[in-house]
Amino acid sequence: VRNLIEPRDFTTEELSRLFDLADDIISNPRKYMDVCKGYVLASLFFEPSTRTRLSFETAMNRLGGRVVGFSDAKVSSTSKGESLVDTLRTVENYADICAMRHPKDGAALLATKYLKTMPIINAGDGAHNHPTQTLTDLLTIRHYKGRFDNLKIGFCGDLKFGRTIHSLVRAMNRYDNVKFVFISPEELKMPKIFKSELPENSYTETDDLEGSIKDLDILYMSRVQKERFVSEEEYVRLKDFFILNKEKLDLAKKDMIVMHPLPRVNEISYDVDDDERAVYFQQAKFGMYVRMALIMTLLGLEA
Ligand code: CP
Repeated sequence: VRNLIEPRDFTTEELSRLFDLADDIISNPRKYMDVCKGYVLASLFFEPSTRTRLSFETAMNRLGGRVVGFSDAKVSSTSKGESLVDTLRTVENYADICAMRHPKDGAALLATKYLKTMPIINAGDGAHNHPTQTLTDLLTIRHYKGRFDNLKIGFCGDLKFGRTIHSLVRAMNRYDNVKFVFISPEELKMPKIFKSELPENSYTETDDLEGSIKDLDILYMSRVQKERFVSEEEYVRLKDFFILNKEKLDLAKKDMIVMHPLPRVNEISYDVDDDERAVYFQQAKFGMYVRMALIMTLLGLEA
């Protein structure tokens, strides 16, 4: 059984094939409309989601398959005390593939130890990883930049808790001459564990967005992750530390792109949305196509 728990579960060659498939689905959607006929996706979301859940479910629907699941842990029997493992062993009897989001780091990996037939896709585990967001992000980068090598990427905001950032840094670190600029307040710096995986001279750290933006090929903005804070007061103090507006974007290169996994709270002004460098809604659209390609790949299906 093939799972996707963290971004490096796929080699860069496998990723290229996945993105080629996603591109073909974008160009020829009708070719794929019955590929998953007779297959069932379990969509188990123990944490809130708009994009990830709906894009997974739409992806399966567009491939001709069916979806079961829940979007609120309170309606599952875990609320009566059932363990995650027992829940998944039960769902394995009903579904062919499962996308799961869970608040605990490592929940998806734990699940793989007990399952025999049902591939697990990690749709976000705590502050740890979000590999299908990474697939979304990489497809977006490939579309707008045409390459993964020789890019300078600024990650701005909550680098401590931002699992989409942790996963994308891991994924981009496999390409040549990628430079990372980690832009955050002191309290929300990139965790040491992720920095320790990077070549020493491949990253810099700063709290100066205006001073950093002019050299970037990609600016990846992120929300301060309210749900991971112990102190509400600390969240309120940090939540608006960076706000990207038109004035700051004017300092950037003409071909820089602004990405954001969404949801946005206040960190990008609405006046930025009309700038052609703002690609975050297109990014969310790529998420559906890449999840279609992923479901097909993990189920071993072809059009
Ligand atoms: N990007 C992302 O994971 O969004 P949702 O939380 O809405 O799924």
